[in-house]
Amino acid sequence: EPEKREEFSGQLGFILSAIGSAVGLGNIWRFPGVAYENGGGAFMVPYLIALLTAGIPILFLDYAIGHRFRGSAPLALRRVKRWLEHLGWFQVAICFVIAVYYAVIIAWALSYFVYSFGLQWGDDTAGFFTGTYLQLADVGGADPWFTLDFVPAVLIPLVLVWVATIIVLAAGVAKGLEKVNFVFMPLLLLAFGTLVVRALFLPGAADGLNALFTPDWGAMTDPNVWIAAYSQIFFSLSIAFGIMITYASYRKRRANLTSPGFVVAFANSGFEVFAGIGVFAALGFLANQQGVAIAEMDGLSGPILAFVTFPALVSQMPAGGLFGALFFGSLVMAGYTSLLSILQVVSASFQEKFGWTRAQAAIRIGLVAAVFSVLAFSTTTGLIALDTVDQWANNIGIVTSAVVTTVVIGWVLRRTEEMRFHLNAVSTIKVGRWWSFCIIVLGPVVLTYMLVSRIVSLVVDGYEGYSGTYLGVAGWGTIALLVVAAIVLTRMRWRVEPDVFSAWPR
Ligand code: PHE
Ligand code: NA
Repeated sequence: EPEKREEFSGQLGFILSAIGSAVGLGNIWRFPGVAYENGGGAFMVPYLIALLTAGIPILFLDYAIGHRFRGSAPLALRRVKRWLEHLGWFQVAICFVIAVYYAVIIAWALSYFVYSFGLQWGDDTAGFFTGTYLQLADVGGADPWFTLDFVPAVLIPLVLVWVATIIVLAAGVAKGLEKVNFVFMPLLLLAFGTLVVRALFLPGAADGLNALFTPDWGAMTDPNVWIAAYSQIFFSLSIAFGIMITYASYRKRRANLTSPGFVVAFANSGFEVFAGIGVFAALGFLANQQGVAIAEMDGLSGPILAFVTFPALVSQMPAGGLFGALFFGSLVMAGYTSLLSILQVVSASFQEKFGWTRAQAAIRIGLVAAVFSVLAFSTTTGLIALDTVDQWANNIGIVTSAVVTTVVIGWVLRRTEEMRFHLNAVSTIKVGRWWSFCIIVLGPVVLTYMLVSRIVSLVVDGYEGYSGTYLGVAGWGTIALLVVAAIVLTRMRWRVEPDVFSAWPR
């Protein structure tokens, strides 16, 4: 007997959970560096345009699909059109892959949260991160093939992250996921807000802000800057890979969709710009201490920013330990709530197709993901493999999913207006024809351009100098695996009747 479909307790629970999903590592360590490298203050223009023309429209499309067809990605998309179930499982598979490595970064942040108090990384923070902590294998320019040399300092927090994840997923949407977000979102704002304010009072903070915001207007004519803006928006809003479809399916039949959507989108972007201010104020301080200009510094984004550059500046601050704890605590909270959201997609889809209970789904999926996560990433080649898989899953996987979604809904099935009417039937803020235009014309054109140029550059230039064989396996192999998983899972039998459902009442 399948359990009754879960629901968010109300609008606030939905909004906080959706913000919890959107606000993640991307806001803290990705946005500031991307903005800095792509025109600084001038980046805000493409960024805002990307938000308004692709981010918010596709977010609304996800909401409409999930809410109207009441299911996680495979079920809801199957109800749109049978064969679209493939796309749903493709999205589920992306979520699974991302979860497998996202958990690892949260584990690192958890370790560094603890290390903060004793400034345990010492003076050589780069050596500490890759050597002492990760014990990264020295492959000396060769391909970083997988090993089974486990690193206990990573393994232990990683297991903790997975246990906490399984427990919350098993508790369910309203009793688990939503509760965590009710606690962590305000706490994240408090911790990160304190950090930003503190950073603004550091000597050199103004130089950091100048470096970030000084506009390079020439950047706006560079297509790569626009690609960077659109891909930041995609990743950052968590759209087009099943999360928002799933979340919207847990809303009540008559739930306002568009206004909370705007709140989520602007909260996410607001947090991102806020993080840019905090991170660059802090970087300004480090540059000031080292007597160099920010332009001459490396490690301004990604794992190196968080685990090498930040520890270095924390060590040079008065009461730096506390600052470090706020930073890594924020990473843990932002990352963990995003991790829960991606795994909820996987869990929901297996519950629906195979009739598993929440607890069964949480334990089975959690264990399998944990095993992959441990085998692939708590070993001495962990960091390198992670980076490659991330590159492909994000840049190829998610963008492909977005292209297919907009092309199929907009052109093949011509269902855009149906989705627009659905949004307008339940929402207070109505969406006009501009929305359909974004879904049918702008989205496919911009996204296809983005996807093709990414594929070309990965094929032509490779990635980080690894051999074609390695990239074939770790990069393109990841994509191939996603496609195979989608086909196999679609072909399996539904244990419940997928095509009978009571749509929202007209
Ligand atoms: N949106 C998140 C961020 O900006 C990223 C994310 C990735 C969220 C995967 C969920 C799943 O960091
Ligand atoms: Na985000």
